[in-house]
Amino acid sequence: MTPPPTDAVLAGLSLAEKAALTSGTRFWYTESVERLQLPSVMLTDGPHGLRKQRAGGDHLGIGDSVPATCFPPAAALGSSWDVDLVERVGAALGTEAAHADVGVLLGPGLNIKRSPLCGRNFEYLSEDPLVSGVLAAALVAGIQSRGVGACPKHFAANNQEHDRMRVSADIDPRPLREIYLRGFQHVVTEAHPWAIMCSYNRINGVHAAEDPWLLTTVLRDQWCFAGLVVSDWGAVNDRVAALIAGLDLDMPGSAFADAQIIDAVAAGSLDEDVLDCSVRRVVDLVRRTGAPPAAATFDTDEHHALAREAAGRGIVLLKNDDGLLPLPTRTHIAVIGEFAQSPRYQGAGSSTIVPTRLDCALDEIRLQATGDVVFARGFTTAAEPPPGEADRLLDEAVGAAAHAEVAVVFLGLPARCESEGFDRDDLDLPVAQLRLLDAVVAVNPRTVVVLSNGGVVALPFASTVPAILEGWLLGQAGGAATADVLFGAVNPSAKLTETIPVRVHDTPAYLAYPGEFGHVRYGEGLFVGYRWYDARCLEVAFPFGHGLSYTSFDYADAVATVNSAGGLDVSVTVTNTGDVAGREIVQVYTSLPGSDVSRPPRELKAFTSVHLDTGASTRATMTIRRQDLAYWDIRVDRWVVEGGTYTVDVAASSRDVRCTVSVAVDGDDLDIPLSPMSSLAEVFAHPVAGPVVASAFAEQMTSLSGGDGLMPKVDMSRMLDSFPIGKVGMLASAAGVEVDPAMISELLDRANDPPD
Ligand code: BGC
Repeated sequence: MTPPPTDAVLAGLSLAEKAALTSGTRFWYTESVERLQLPSVMLTDGPHGLRKQRAGGDHLGIGDSVPATCFPPAAALGSSWDVDLVERVGAALGTEAAHADVGVLLGPGLNIKRSPLCGRNFEYLSEDPLVSGVLAAALVAGIQSRGVGACPKHFAANNQEHDRMRVSADIDPRPLREIYLRGFQHVVTEAHPWAIMCSYNRINGVHAAEDPWLLTTVLRDQWCFAGLVVSDWGAVNDRVAALIAGLDLDMPGSAFADAQIIDAVAAGSLDEDVLDCSVRRVVDLVRRTGAPPAAATFDTDEHHALAREAAGRGIVLLKNDDGLLPLPTRTHIAVIGEFAQSPRYQGAGSSTIVPTRLDCALDEIRLQATGDVVFARGFTTAAEPPPGEADRLLDEAVGAAAHAEVAVVFLGLPARCESEGFDRDDLDLPVAQLRLLDAVVAVNPRTVVVLSNGGVVALPFASTVPAILEGWLLGQAGGAATADVLFGAVNPSAKLTETIPVRVHDTPAYLAYPGEFGHVRYGEGLFVGYRWYDARCLEVAFPFGHGLSYTSFDYADAVATVNSAGGLDVSVTVTNTGDVAGREIVQVYTSLPGSDVSRPPRELKAFTSVHLDTGASTRATMTIRRQDLAYWDIRVDRWVVEGGTYTVDVAASSRDVRCTVSVAVDGDDLDIPLSPMSSLAEVFAHPVAGPVVASAFAEQMTSLSGGDGLMPKVDMSRMLDSFPIGKVGMLASAAGVEVDPAMISELLDRANDPPD
């Protein structure tokens, strides 16, 4: 039953009820007001499955929730770059939430992977804001299509777990807008989530929960967000300040903090209208979630099949020398590694799902194989194995590998190494696993590595092992999906949404992570992920956007044109030149040579995917929205598209550009008033002042910059470029020329306010 209209509810509430409505109850619920037929709503985790606690659980509830489909966590799902699939996964999540009477699912997570060490990277989509924003929007659309609210998190700049409740992410305006907020802006403006979750951390000194700039100026005034802002669990430090800043719902909330609101209203330090505004948003949310569009029933087998499809789409074929993969089913295989029988399929922390069932790769390989399959554990994930066990397991594995045609070695991070709540110290796989791999490769060079890890790991064996599958954490059906890819039932098409670096020392945040004394300075600025490796010309193990297929694709005839909305339409012909059908993810990067602002060498601006039978061709078309071409201009505090001839790279990865075209784009009007501190270059570039100053000072400029001028051996024009016009008089007098300051002021006035 839909509750009464919001106005009617609001009119009937006492002050105490209003205060109580803006905080949670029983850890996961909003307050109800039975007298006014206002029910409570459950908000619960997310993001890649439903973690609904059983009644009476411990409220941390990890491991004690009702079974739900565990879809691949974001690191794997994101690697699909598949908007349609991601939306279908979102819809399945929404259905399961509706079925369990959950009103809001706490996800997706879309913080940028600033450092590969972040313990929660498995829950995030990418190091790039476009991929993050587009895929998160697809998840939101899917979830909300089932009458359940989505809740993108953690807003914002929650890029590390270390010290997450206190640390201040100190970020300059451009990277803040262009990298860390851009994905959130996309999801808010394109998918209209019903809620958004603020993060624990501070941003430039202010806690997100109490930041009026973040929660009101940016989120509501600039992005027109109309939904509810909920705190991360326990993120509120000052309840009244949070409410004033724009935080509507404090979770899990407390009656003590409710009393602070009541006192503040009584004391006049909190305007009741502010409280009413948040109450309205809570009531609106309750009303919205009260009417799911259809009876929410689902078939667990179907959802498991979807989880398998998604997992297959998330496995990245990093390397495949001499076409070692796919394996003929008759191959005699040595399956090696603990993870083949005890999969690591999700990360630790609040996203931990109790799956409806769990595939393991070993069983699935045995199901699909027609040849001999032998198994050896190879290593143990125990922190302290009994003496001699490591050697025993290694010897056994080497024996199995030596007699097999192919060894498939499952390596990965033990579960205790990466989690919400802390970060990793390094990128390394356990030494025992690397030692095992060396020993296996020594007896059987036909070795395939399958990785299980939430965040990227260093791959010291990248040049010695012929085939590597990045299997991330694949959810409950990952085992079957891995077998599908190994035997070619699924042709891999995933691509990396984060760079795999050679070593941690090369990573963008290496020298400014995780910070100290409560501050972490994002000193790398815009240069996050591939933007950094490309700008520094650093070698990487595998670049952003990389991923192989069992077939090959040819790109030709790229075209880029300006469309009627001022953005770019880009198209290219893609041909499947190999022997099997396959799917190719096509990426478009832009750059602007000679730009006035600092820019990475190339930035992803659009992507799509095409599915092609062998020998088939199609025209892949993509649109770059005009706003995605913009940079954040700190002089005017807004997005600006710079005019010029853009380079458009159509690419198979950030380091595999297949076609390059150029296109001229008109810039936005940018009216920056000239001042005495404007440089001569700025004055000359000004449409009004430029010609006036040039003619008024022609003689002086010649004398200053040319022939026997001030410093004949120096290129004076370059020096003068950055010279403030207000100080020209001083320079000129040194060269024996007098410049009247009044004349300069008059010129500047005329330039700033030209006669019509
Ligand atoms: C996490 C959130 C989660 C919440 C509720 C917090 O610790 O950061 O992502 O939704 O707990 O479990």
